[in-house]
Amino acid sequence: MVFKRRLYPEEIVVVEHIIDFVKIKHHRAEGHDYSHVLEVCRLSIEIAKKIKEPINPFVLTCGALLHDIGRINAPNGLFHGLDGAARANEILKAYIDDEKISREIQQVIIRHTPESMIPPSSPEQKVVFDADAIERLGFMGMVRGIMGKSGTMEEIIEDRVHKRLKDYSKLYYAVSRKMSKKAYKETIAVSKTLKKDLAKRASEIGEVTSYKLIKEES
Ligand SMILES: [Fe+2]
Ligand SMILES: [Fe+2]
Repeated sequence: MVFKRRLYPEEIVVVEHIIDFVKIKHHRAEGHDYSHVLEVCRLSIEIAKKIKEPINPFVLTCGALLHDIGRINAPNGLFHGLDGAARANEILKAYIDDEKISREIQQVIIRHTPESMIPPSSPEQKVVFDADAIERLGFMGMVRGIMGKSGTMEEIIEDRVHKRLKDYSKLYYAVSRKMSKKAYKETIAVSKTLKKDLAKRASEIGEVTSYKLIKEES
């Protein structure tokens, strides 16, 4: 199945308005900038084209574009799916008359993250969930995930690696796992390198704090 249909001309106008909206809102947003949103949108379309279930292209595109709107100006990302759906309500009300479609888009936003504690159920929700998880994998995803985090390097890296490996195991579609296999392996390789370097650094720090280096010099 590709899509149920192509976007109608009036839907394209709404999508263009939403693109302009998220472009401004996500501009330079730490970790979740405009490129993240566009990449999740692109991956969503790629997955949707490869699965059997019929997909509403308008719900999928709007949901993917607005999925992280709840992260903007939020002190942390907690419950950003629920916050995002509430924020998206304003723009959806302004451009979309069909309330059922707006609610479907809001459900995509709510259920794209496990933090909302409501798992995705429709194909559009599952596709955006998978696309977002895939975008977090690989070297770029790791770097993006580390940006703006507080804590020691060990804690941040440990947390990121643990979450990324869990992300991969929770992907809904076989095609999503296939698409992200390379990035998943890259995540494992990056985590091994980072952990090795951290262990090396810890032993070097040990040499300094035990005055071994100074004693050897004298
Ligand atoms: Fe998110
Ligand atoms: Fe995201």
